[in-house]
Amino acid sequence: MPVIRQMDQRLANMIAAGEVVDRPASVIKELIENAIDAKASVIMVDVFDMGMSKMVVADNGCGMDHVDAKMAFSRHATSKIKDEYDLSHIKTLGFRGEALAAIASVSKVVLKTRQEDQEGYMVIYEGGHFISEGVASLNKGTIIEVNDLFFNTPARFKYIKSEVAEKNQIIDIFDRLALAHPEIRFSLSMDGKKVKETFGKPDMHQLIDSIYGPRMTQGMVSFKEVVQKVEIEGYLLSPQIARSRKKDISIFVNGRYIKNYALVQAVIDGYHSFMMVGKYPVALIHIVLDPSLLDCNVHPQKYEVKFVNEMILAYHIEGYVKQALLSARHEIPESLEKIHKVERENTYTPIQMDFTEIREEHVDHIEEKERHKLPDLSYVGVFSGTYLIFQNEEGMYLVDQHAAAERVRYEHYMKVFKNPQKIRKMMLLGFALPLTDQDLSVIKHNLKALADVGFIFNENVELLEVPTWLRDEDIDLAVETVVTMLDQEKHIDLLKLRDALAKDISCKGAIKANKSLSKIEIDHLMKELQVCENPYHCPHGRPTIIKLSHYDIERMFKRVV
Ligand SMILES: Nc1ncnc2c1ncn2[C@@H]1O[C@H](COP(=O)(O)OP(=O)(O)OP(=O)(O)O)[C@@H](O)[C@H]1O
Ligand SMILES: [Mg+2]
Repeated sequence: MPVIRQMDQRLANMIAAGEVVDRPASVIKELIENAIDAKASVIMVDVFDMGMSKMVVADNGCGMDHVDAKMAFSRHATSKIKDEYDLSHIKTLGFRGEALAAIASVSKVVLKTRQEDQEGYMVIYEGGHFISEGVASLNKGTIIEVNDLFFNTPARFKYIKSEVAEKNQIIDIFDRLALAHPEIRFSLSMDGKKVKETFGKPDMHQLIDSIYGPRMTQGMVSFKEVVQKVEIEGYLLSPQIARSRKKDISIFVNGRYIKNYALVQAVIDGYHSFMMVGKYPVALIHIVLDPSLLDCNVHPQKYEVKFVNEMILAYHIEGYVKQALLSARHEIPESLEKIHKVERENTYTPIQMDFTEIREEHVDHIEEKERHKLPDLSYVGVFSGTYLIFQNEEGMYLVDQHAAAERVRYEHYMKVFKNPQKIRKMMLLGFALPLTDQDLSVIKHNLKALADVGFIFNENVELLEVPTWLRDEDIDLAVETVVTMLDQEKHIDLLKLRDALAKDISCKGAIKANKSLSKIEIDHLMKELQVCENPYHCPHGRPTIIKLSHYDIERMFKRVV
């Protein structure tokens, strides 16, 4: 029974438009992905002349009936989604209904396919035109042969680089797809010679060795964690296998290989103490999450996806990587110990994250050139008394001044309370606090307890000294918190005070939305944000900074599609 249908115009318009076939490797990617979506357990790839003369992808998946075998070449024809809801809950690798049409328009394609207990069928297309169809003999599954790529679009040849580069691209995408799907048996041959082969078994050691080479997994550590229904699984090759490029860090989401700066950087940061500067690990991270938390319809080639709360995901990945490497007692080279001031105990504490909290739509969190470092921004003005507007050559940035200040304070208090110092600082003047009579009496009765944590009052209940870790702007709020604690619990619990300072006070005390800031205050805030561990989110997970690229803006004005 046919299952492929043509999308209606509305849905078709919602699909990220653009070219997917720019080189042989992208044809291989699309064809393998189709085979994976067809639930194949064996996928065989044969490439001749770096893919320019012939590429064959054969699978033992579900196959198609004779109606679908032809329909598969129509634009916006897919069996994988039917409406807008499906588009925001993508469970398959393909969904655009474009790949075969695009491939057939620039090559000569022979498709043979057969469903279980059905007759095999064959369809031939050339340069986008239907040529012929008929019965074919084959086992269950699909064999697609792509000949003479770009025969009718010679201009595209100029994008083809050297033979080595094209072959490497093919091997690279083959590797990622094979690593993403241990359950499938893959093989790749080039010009008749077997180049790679995997075994379709869940043994990750065997799989990774078959892709990267024998004994590569010696000393590999792995982890599998579930945090708020998001599964994160990691395979971390020994830090001794150091590469000079980041490209062997593979991130997979729901079986899809993706390119994601923040998550790759999180892995690098997790390995940080174990690697020489300028060296990068070989690692695989598999993430499985509810498809509604992921937008795959960002770019036609689907390497980019948008996550809900990407930075929180990055935070966890960094923590799990660090934790796994530390628990495996990988040696931290002495030379690195000095450079990195390595913390040997694991300082990672899982925080609550709510992946459903924010659904990012048109806007990106900024793609950090370097994590922990904000790009250079020049101040433009303020919108609605709350959002600071900045710009640079890449686009426009909005900073939520309240969320940014919360982040700054949160990190300050988490840091100082790791190692709370007893040192106090003198107030320049006795500090009269706006306290009620009841507060004053609580203070008078608890002068010693207050002094123990660094708050010294005189007999007029004026504050003379405060702990050095307290930020000046938080003094009255800190006193208020401590007094409430004494009143209700009769003692000061430092841990609670830390949490109150880090979260409550940071929230209450952080610059309120609508408070207008001077240029000096803005510069100060941005400087402090710059040195934060995670400058991109407030402690509650909301973004502090949002980027609208030139492209985003032009798209909104419909100057580009
Ligand atoms: N190897 C295969 N086995 C079974 N069905 C296939 C295979 N390849 C393609 N198809 C069918 O042909 C349809 C069109 O494939 P095509 O790759 O053009 O689009 P898609 O996979 O739906 O979306 P995308 O353009 O995002 O890849 C698929 O939806 C699927 O039903
Ligand atoms: Mg496809």
